[in-house]
Amino acid sequence: MDRGALSLTLFGFCFIFISGAPTTKDQSIDIYSFHINSTVTSRYAVTVITSRVANRLNESKEVHFQVQIPKHAFISRFRMTMEGKTYDGVVKEKEEAQQQYSQAVSRGESAGIISSVGRTLEEFKTSVTVAAFSKVTFELTYEELLKRQHGKYQLLINAQPMQTMADFKIDVYILENPSISFLEVNGGLNTKELANAVTITRSDKEAWVSFYPTREQQTNCDSCGENGLNGDLIIMYDVTRQVPSGELKASEGYFVHYFAPTDIQRIPKNVVFVIDRSGSMSGRKIQQTREALLKILGDISEDDHFGLVTFDSHIDVWNPELLSASEGNLQKAKDFVRKITHGGSTNINDAVIKGVEMINRHQQEGSASILILLTDGAPNTGESDPIKIQANVKKAIGGKFPLYCLGFGFDVNFEFLQKMALENSGHAVRIYEDSDADLQLQGFYEEVATPLLTNIQLNYIGVGNLTQTTFRHYYNGSEIVVAGQITDNSLDSLQTTVIAISRNGNVSYQDAILTKDFVDVSPQHENIMERLWAHLTVKQLLEKEVTLHGLEKEAARKEVLCLSLKYKFVTPLTSMVVTKPQGESTQVAHKPKEQEQKPVKQKLRLPSGTTRLIRPQQPRKVGRGRGREEDYYEYSGFYFSAPHRNSDLGRGRGRGRHSYISAHDYYFFSNRDRTSVHDPMEVKPTIKVPPPVEGVRVLISHHAQQKPLCYDLPPSSSLELLKDPSSDFIMNGSLSTKGFKLIDFHYKTNHYLRITSDAIEYSDGLSKSSFLWGSANYEKDSVSLIIRANEVDIAMGSIRVVILQHKKDGEVFLWPDVKQQPNNPDTQGILGAARLKYEELQGSVIKIKDKEKKATWSKATDYRRSSAPELGCWLVPFQFIHAKAVAS
Ligand SMILES: *[C@@H]1O[C@H](CO)[C@@H](O)[C@H](O)[C@H]1NC(C)=O
Ligand SMILES: *[C@@H]1O[C@H](CO)[C@@H](O)[C@H](O)[C@H]1NC(C)=O
Ligand SMILES: *[C@@H]1O[C@H](CO)[C@@H](O)[C@H](O)[C@H]1NC(C)=O
Ligand SMILES: *[C@@H]1O[C@H](CO)[C@@H](O)[C@H](O)[C@H]1NC(C)=O
Repeated sequence: MDRGALSLTLFGFCFIFISGAPTTKDQSIDIYSFHINSTVTSRYAVTVITSRVANRLNESKEVHFQVQIPKHAFISRFRMTMEGKTYDGVVKEKEEAQQQYSQAVSRGESAGIISSVGRTLEEFKTSVTVAAFSKVTFELTYEELLKRQHGKYQLLINAQPMQTMADFKIDVYILENPSISFLEVNGGLNTKELANAVTITRSDKEAWVSFYPTREQQTNCDSCGENGLNGDLIIMYDVTRQVPSGELKASEGYFVHYFAPTDIQRIPKNVVFVIDRSGSMSGRKIQQTREALLKILGDISEDDHFGLVTFDSHIDVWNPELLSASEGNLQKAKDFVRKITHGGSTNINDAVIKGVEMINRHQQEGSASILILLTDGAPNTGESDPIKIQANVKKAIGGKFPLYCLGFGFDVNFEFLQKMALENSGHAVRIYEDSDADLQLQGFYEEVATPLLTNIQLNYIGVGNLTQTTFRHYYNGSEIVVAGQITDNSLDSLQTTVIAISRNGNVSYQDAILTKDFVDVSPQHENIMERLWAHLTVKQLLEKEVTLHGLEKEAARKEVLCLSLKYKFVTPLTSMVVTKPQGESTQVAHKPKEQEQKPVKQKLRLPSGTTRLIRPQQPRKVGRGRGREEDYYEYSGFYFSAPHRNSDLGRGRGRGRHSYISAHDYYFFSNRDRTSVHDPMEVKPTIKVPPPVEGVRVLISHHAQQKPLCYDLPPSSSLELLKDPSSDFIMNGSLSTKGFKLIDFHYKTNHYLRITSDAIEYSDGLSKSSFLWGSANYEKDSVSLIIRANEVDIAMGSIRVVILQHKKDGEVFLWPDVKQQPNNPDTQGILGAARLKYEELQGSVIKIKDKEKKATWSKATDYRRSSAPELGCWLVPFQFIHAKAVAS
């Protein structure tokens, strides 16, 4: 491999950059750092993506920034920093931005700056011209309220930095009071070799997930290529619910109430499926619908009643009355489903009205009725005026039960379905025409499969500007969220009463929190509660606005606009004007409208400077689209489609050299290889008075499903911290009174690195460099050093360690955090053996392998984080864990 070298001296710091990357890549524009930092506080996630790019050429060059973020999130900040100047994006009313920058708009520059990709993501892209030998920092912030579905919250982080780099990292911090009940990390980035790069630490309330792959590993995931990472990290978790009345939180004049009781018997349901079998459903769609219905019928509870309506221009019913889900009835229904075939045109009006009548004839005390419409087209026979159909359906249902509309594919009038569902206290869901459509249908059904409460009404005293407070149904696995403003300042407690109907009649839940219990927020979470309230208000108003008319509609839009401008959210009514240095054209970022768009066929990106298509492995073809000129592929658990061509995928000539894949929710399929963790904190140990800390207390890397272990280090001059004989790596440390005063590394025979709180010295056997804490990068062969003010990030081979510098009571000391080590039984040292497993026996006894020891529930400071949080841990003697770790 050829190597290019370049060195710069800046600001009096020693600033060295030696690129170890192959020259086949265009190194003139170098993304030298890419960080994603996500902070979740009470389900409200704020994610910041920071990309630092250098133009290493002697002439100015256009530099691109391109990232993907979840669709349901709102961008709240975008900033570029160049040559000491900051350019902040400005959020304006959409029309105003459009007019003001009509030039940019007419040049089409605003069109693509945010676009929809696939089912869940949106892409933000922009560019700026960077002078010769200059740098730019891009920073994008987006915010989202994580929604509970199927019993868990899901934070999705997409990483596609377009290049490999030493300084890539994802840090996620989750804070949930009273506690996190389980946490698991999924997604394409948590597979194979990359799984080693994921570390999870957690206490009751807090969890830290970090992902620090080395440059080499960044090419090593299923969907990663020569141009680096390409995939998602998905963090799923749920929280414990101590009281059925839910979780009330307030801070700085705002409150949020999460209501998701679990200890309730299910309510039997009356469900009618209204299924489109018009001509357009022919082929795969009708087949998938049949498969999904058969599965759903298999899952239906015995005390439920159900009905089936199929329609084209004719309406057929399986049985005129709803029948109980007995074995015999289900068999007959399944036979009916197997015989559903596609036919003529689409009479939505009569079909839905038929379903409504069937339910109305079957109204029963103590049951919950649900109507589900599945269609793939627009009404075109019978009553075909959408407005009249909506009116007919609304009148027929009369607010008595919810209607859910599933729009299959992109030929549906989704806006019509959405409005009809929202008007009847349901919602519309798009079913994407893909190989997993049957799973999408089942997934939707599971969300509404278990009604627990109906007619839920949440009441509060002394508050105003509430979000929605009445809900038709509450389903198991979901959550009701209400936020508002505390208007009565004399209030010393916030009270709530929830009334609802359960299986056994009326129920009521009460709760109150004292104002003194209001959550303390650390400065970086300032006004989170207020932003959460604004976010939820905007989201709900945007939905509600669909069903409103005239002045009411105007008022709703005005409020959305007002809040979006105040909180700088890029919503469908606002746009962000991306400001740039003088002389460059301005861009306007609009939030794309979901329902208008077919999923954009995503071009497989080529690394800059090459024209080859990089494909790690040949995908397996699983089918041929019918008449659509698309082939369906499976590639290690991911499904995608590509335009049909005779030659190989990727080598086609017709449309240029690239291939297209459509971006799906591919993580839907990728739940193999998951690191799964279950409720570690179920039994909370009684807190004993912690013995005074003597010397240095170390937390052990533990399996995230267990409580942490800790021990006190014996006073000793030198400790072997980590030794990996297979990669010739040794890390040793010398203690001071609070932490380490010196940490040194030996790697292969020639590399030596020594870190103290004064300096960082590194020798590669030929030359010696000395750095100050501050800002410097070094990268050569398989070694990289990234030096910041309080952190040194070290990669040697497949090991990645961060050394943090802490200051406490006037003492400055170091602390190592092993971010990644090989899964190798030979590793030694006190930080070796990633993820120690132990058993917790009766009477505070800890068992490791065949040894048992009594432990004390105690506390330790986790110096592996710069915030140095205090965690509860089982304190065990050092010798119990490490018999022979003390080096001479
Ligand atoms: C992530 O963001 C939070 C909040 O701004 C900040 O406190 C924290 O230091 C950041 N973490 C990292 C690893 O940059
Ligand atoms: C940039 O460098 C190239 C070769 O390294 C040289 O030919 C060219 O003249 C330089 N351009 C400028 C503007 O200095
Ligand atoms: C609700 O879901 C949880 C798991 O997500 C399950 O344990 C519980 O039994 C369910 N409740 C009912 C009534 O089905
Ligand atoms: C249940 O509550 C509703 C509304 O609050 C009320 O009209 C009804 O009489 C109550 N039913 C019983 C049995 O208490």
